[in-house]
Amino acid sequence: MSGKIIDGKAISADIKQEVKLEVEALNKRGIEPCLAVILVGENTASKVYVNNKKKACQACGIQSVSYELPENTSERELLDLVEKLNQDKKINGILVQLPLPKQIDETKVILAISPKKDVDCFHPQNVGALHTGQKGFLPCTPAGILELIKRSGYDITSKQCVVIGRSNIVGKPAAMLLLQENGTVTICHSKTKDLAQVCKRADIIVVATGKINTLTKDMVKQGAIVIDVGMNRNEEGKLCGDVDFEAVKEVAEAITPVPGGVGPMTIAMLMKNCLTAAKEQAQG
Ligand code: GUN
Repeated sequence: MSGKIIDGKAISADIKQEVKLEVEALNKRGIEPCLAVILVGENTASKVYVNNKKKACQACGIQSVSYELPENTSERELLDLVEKLNQDKKINGILVQLPLPKQIDETKVILAISPKKDVDCFHPQNVGALHTGQKGFLPCTPAGILELIKRSGYDITSKQCVVIGRSNIVGKPAAMLLLQENGTVTICHSKTKDLAQVCKRADIIVVATGKINTLTKDMVKQGAIVIDVGMNRNEEGKLCGDVDFEAVKEVAEAITPVPGGVGPMTIAMLMKNCLTAAKEQAQG
């Protein structure tokens, strides 16, 4: 028996359609949601992500303005642009694609983005709100993970959840959202002892390490739900996640593929945040 493959492309299309309908309703009230996207430098993967984000905006009826700055852009120039966009009433969301070139301090840039326009949910004010259960933006990839689980018909309450990876973008916020959904959450990382043993207890496993084959079949309980956040290339240059997909799907109840799992969800949730930003700012 092989597990169900969770179709992130289909679920993200549903979410984008929901956003589109809401955007159309806002347009009728004269509100036009707009996202500013900033890309600095020549990172090939970042260019692909940014293009996909712009395409998603178009599909949802959200306006986008893009700034493609050279690799040698100074921190000051980027901070000045962010400040200009903070002040611009036509801009509802600001996204600075990471990573940034080495001369620019990412933390400083994240701190410079107005929390009201921080559609990535990277600003400490929004991270704090998330951790204390206040209303606000949800971080895109973790929120996408939750939607994948819930819209596939699974309840997180009382489940043993294991998150592998403790990054600020994925691991930590994903653990927090699973906790808010009443999961019993364990965060594992590169220093975790007996990772296999910890994973083997899990009903839900989220893998976000950026390392091929972090999760193998022997680490997964029959009937577990497996969410793969990885985006790697194997020796043949083929896109693959952090999970040994072919083997793990034999024991999992449900599993996300790479590509076509979490990736499209991150962008769909970004669109949702742009919509939220536009609505909040329209209320003043
Ligand atoms: N780099 C990798 N993932 C992301 C993301 O979700 N947002 C931004 N801004 N940069 C990223």
